[in-house]
Amino acid sequence: ADSFDEECDYLFKAVLTGDSGVGKSNLLSRFAKDEFRLDSKPTIGVEFAYRNIKVGDKLIKAQIWDTAGQERFRAITSSYYRGALGAMLVYDITRRATFENVKKWLQELRQFGSGDMVVVLVGNKTDLGHSREVSKEEGNSVAETEGLCFMETSALEKVNVEEAFMHMITKIH
Ligand code: GTP
Ligand code: MG
Repeated sequence: ADSFDEECDYLFKAVLTGDSGVGKSNLLSRFAKDEFRLDSKPTIGVEFAYRNIKVGDKLIKAQIWDTAGQERFRAITSSYYRGALGAMLVYDITRRATFENVKKWLQELRQFGSGDMVVVLVGNKTDLGHSREVSKEEGNSVAETEGLCFMETSALEKVNVEEAFMHMITKIH
C-alpha cells in the first residue's frame, strides 16, 4: 500500500529545516519507516522520503525533503523551498543555540518559501529532559509570536512524531 506509483489524489511537498544535529533525519525516518539511529550521519545536501496518508477519503502522497543543517551543504537553499506547502523547523531542546537560530531559519523560509506555507516549530529530544536548556513555554511563546504551530517531540522515544507530521500535513488543505 506504500508503493511509489500508487494512485494518489494529492502530492504535497514539505521541507525539514533547522540546525545540524537537531534530529531532522531521525524524525523523518521515524515517520516514514519507523526507524531510529543513534549513530546517524549528517545529511549531505538533501534527501527525500515519501509516505502515503489517508485524510478523509483522499490519498495524499507526502514528499518530504530532509535538508542538511550544516552550512557547507546549503548552497542551493532556494530550490529546497520551491513548491513546498509545509515546513518543519526543528531545534534541540538540550542545545540553546539551536533554538536561538530558529529566527535565522524562519527568515530563510520566508525569503524562499511561499507566504502561505504551514510551518510547525518542533522542539526535539524531550527524552533528554535532564539536559533541557529550552523550556516548553519558551518554544510556545516564539511560535505564538511568529504565528507557527508548536510541538515537542522525541524521535528516539516515538513521542509526538506522527502527530507533528500529521498536524503539518492535515493543516495544508
Ligand atoms: P543534519 O543532517 O546534520 O542537519 O542533522 P539532523 O538534524 O538530521 O540530525 P540527525 O537526525 O542526524 O540526529 C543527530 C543526532 O541526534 C543523532 O545521533 C541522533 O541519534 C540523535 N537524535 C535524533 N533525535 C533524537 C531524539 O529524539 N532523542 C535523542 N536522545 N537523540 C536524538
Ligand atoms: Mg540530517
